Amino acid sequence: MHTTKNSLPLKTRDSMVRLLNDRLADALDLYHQSKQAHWNVKGPQFQMLHGLFDDLASHALEHADDLAERAVALGGVAEGRVAPVAARTSMPAYPGDAATGAAHLAAIAAGLASFGAKVRDAIDVAAKDGDAGTSDLFTGISRAVDKDLWMVEAHG
Ligand SMILES: [Fe+2]
Repeated sequence: MHTTKNSLPLKTRDSMVRLLNDRLADALDLYHQSKQAHWNVKGPQFQMLHGLFDDLASHALEHADDLAERAVALGGVAEGRVAPVAARTSMPAYPGDAATGAAHLAAIAAGLASFGAKVRDAIDVAAKDGDAGTSDLFTGISRAVDKDLWMVEAHG
């Protein structure tokens, strides 16, 4: 941990940095999964789904940036390297053979649901640890992921 005049106790900041990096790995995985869908989807709904999946990738990258910068603001190191992220992610594996719109929509919905559940849990963990700022960050991400899941499920 880096030295900081941030008034949160070191123990709280240390546990928050670990939690933020856990969800950062998931957000980066979700970004890559969304790009996988954006690049590979085929079928009559191509144009719409191609655009939708790119929007989801942008959102995931914004969440990753917010999570990473909160971890550094608390005195930690944001882990964005590919190998540690791959080892750390808790996301379901993305099917490499997905081709149709339905297959990509199902895979992306599963990923968003998993990420959404983990972020929702993190809201309470951060609040119980006394870090309202981190809890609020997770709350905002949770709300955005719920909305994205709605958008994806509405195509089903
Ligand atoms: Fe593109």
